[in-house]
Amino acid sequence: MQPVLDGTVALVTGASSGIGAAAAAALAAEGAAVALAARRGDRLEALAADIRDQGGTALVLECDVTDEQQAVGAVERTVDGLGRLDTLINNAGVMLLGPVVDAPLPEWQQMVELNVLGLLYCAHAALPHLLRAAEDGPRQVADMVNISSVAGRAARLGNGVYSLTKHGVGAFSESLRQEVAKRYVRVSLVEPGATATELASHNRPEILDSIRSQFGQTMSAADIADAITYIVTRPRHVAVNEMLIRPTEQER
Ligand SMILES: NC(=O)c1ccc[n+]([C@@H]2O[C@H](COP(=O)([O-])OP(=O)(O)OC[C@H]3O[C@@H](n4cnc5c(N)ncnc54)[C@H](OP(=O)(O)O)[C@@H]3O)[C@@H](O)[C@H]2O)c1
Repeated sequence: MQPVLDGTVALVTGASSGIGAAAAAALAAEGAAVALAARRGDRLEALAADIRDQGGTALVLECDVTDEQQAVGAVERTVDGLGRLDTLINNAGVMLLGPVVDAPLPEWQQMVELNVLGLLYCAHAALPHLLRAAEDGPRQVADMVNISSVAGRAARLGNGVYSLTKHGVGAFSESLRQEVAKRYVRVSLVEPGATATELASHNRPEILDSIRSQFGQTMSAADIADAITYIVTRPRHVAVNEMLIRPTEQER
């Protein structure tokens, strides 16, 4: 049987680790040619080699998506290198937690620049290509999957600005979904709970200690990649708008 995503091209941001790396591998296994975007080129090269070993096609895009030109460049290099763009997985993100009072402002700036602006730059640059793919692509449908979080549903003490950025991702995604639904670009929101990746490791040591003490059961990046793959492999008339996924034991 022909893989469902055969002939399509997917761009995954934040593909050098965690959910992005797992999603890129999963989409490649479904037949998509994948463009891998992140700052750590060596990690992307290793993933690209794995994908090629499995018979897939991968393009490495070393870039910082908080830089507008580099984000636009990642989209353009995908289309130049792989011929089209059917799927954008807007995944790159950072989570820097802690109290609002006396928080280091650069942490807030980093989260807004990556989780909000980086995602918007990629979405803006990708949309003309996704609209074209929905018109003339092999599947007559295109996908933008934006990665939010449980924190995009509910704010908690200690996650104020992270939660702000993810609520923003949810609001933008729903508005854009309504705008492009009839043109067969599906905009989906994925809201993971605790997932074992590098995400927490970027926090200050004192914050990391408190995160670790609260950490219970976790999912794997592959569990979230599964959800992303499910979303983008639905038939043309089915759009999974939103998916909230927690480890079974996670209560909040
Ligand atoms: N893990 C969880 O529990 C969890 C829960 C809910 C939501 N999420 C969301 O899932 C997404 C993926 O996170 P993850 O858990 O997989 O964490 P991760 O392993 O830390 O992955 C983050 C990815 O973003 C990339 N990135 C960071 N800054 C970037 C930049 N300026 N330009 C381009 N890429 C950049 C990183 O690559 P480089 O450093 O190489 O650039 C890395 O590939 C995030 O949006 C996160 O908020 C995660």
